[in-house]
Amino acid sequence: GRRVLADRHGRVATDLRVSLTDRCNLRCTYCMPAEGLDWMPRDELLSDDELIRLIRIGTSMLGIRTVRLTGGEPLLRKNLEGLVERIAALPDRPKIALTTNAIGLARRARALADAGLDRINISLDTLDDDTFAQLARRRRLADVLAGVTAAREAGLQPVKINTVLMRGINDHEAVALVRWAIDEGVQLRFIEQMPLDAQHGWDRHTMITAEEIRAQLGREFNLVEDPDDARARGSAPAELFRIDGTEHRVGIIAAVSQPFCGACDRVRLTADGQLRNCLFARTEQDLRTPLRAGADDDALADQWVSAVAIKLPGHGIDDPSFLQPDRPMSAIGG
Ligand code: GTP
Ligand code: 5AD
Ligand code: SF4
Repeated sequence: GRRVLADRHGRVATDLRVSLTDRCNLRCTYCMPAEGLDWMPRDELLSDDELIRLIRIGTSMLGIRTVRLTGGEPLLRKNLEGLVERIAALPDRPKIALTTNAIGLARRARALADAGLDRINISLDTLDDDTFAQLARRRRLADVLAGVTAAREAGLQPVKINTVLMRGINDHEAVALVRWAIDEGVQLRFIEQMPLDAQHGWDRHTMITAEEIRAQLGREFNLVEDPDDARARGSAPAELFRIDGTEHRVGIIAAVSQPFCGACDRVRLTADGQLRNCLFARTEQDLRTPLRAGADDDALADQWVSAVAIKLPGHGIDDPSFLQPDRPMSAIGG
């Protein structure tokens, strides 16, 4: 029967974020080391059939309305187009979104849109070829830019761009990135860096804050807080600002300095079949083992319900007792 994914703090999860692989073809310094990580063994990854079964349980029994595919880099998943098509064919079709670095997207955006992909978010931290090569440790800026254009042309609108600013590396580029986004017709969001890197190098004191980003943009643009944006925000992580004189919006995701955990509607499934009720959760619910042992839909749905019920009220990054999760973001999903 039908259930809801409610927790003890009044929140209901309707947004399922599914990591399809922990691998990536970039090595962004704020994410993973140059040599990469110990990737998950193939047999521990959920197969397409297993994924579709869990997503179907989420959409038909648990009230999931949006499925966001993430990684690592989800375009590295074999036959991603086929997976999207199967999600789109589910009886209670969810909205389907993708968060990607856009490498190789230029030749796949059309097929993904045709398969049923509704929306796409693309990571892009710099417009400078050398800075990109330094930051992502691969010289692939041109591929990413071609991917952005292809996504827009394939009708995957609004295309959103995720930008993490890092002190002394790309923090002088905020204005240039916004100008580019206006020209390109995409919505750029600046994200405060969170303590989720594999190397545990995050530092609260050097993090570029939302306040700093606003100040930097404010010297060049007049940022207008539109009441319509505030009303429409809901559980969206980004606070949007309209750039005066245009209809263009820029977003700031203040995940650390102004946590939006109180409005969170997310639940995550890792590529190896572990349910996480939060990016920062310190416990996971293993769905892969019961799934492979032949558990029925009701049993899996019940486990899912209990995993979400115990979700903590917030990430607690500023608590003295905060501990970074054992898994890095690349193995959890963005
Ligand atoms: P839409 O607003 O629906 O387009 O998606 P999104 O912004 O949630 O998705 P995306 O994967 O692009 O995530 C953007 C950034 O939001 C991520 O890099 C994270 O920094 C942040 N974010 C996403 N989900 C969470 C979450 O559950 N908790 C926190 N603290 N941050 C999150
Ligand atoms: N903090 C905030 N955002 C991060 N991303 C990757 N690592 C971090 C971090 N530590 C961003 C990527 C991608 C999105 C899914 O998360 O840039 O756009
Ligand atoms: Fe790959 Fe994303 Fe991590 Fe960069 S941030 S290395 S694109 S998973």
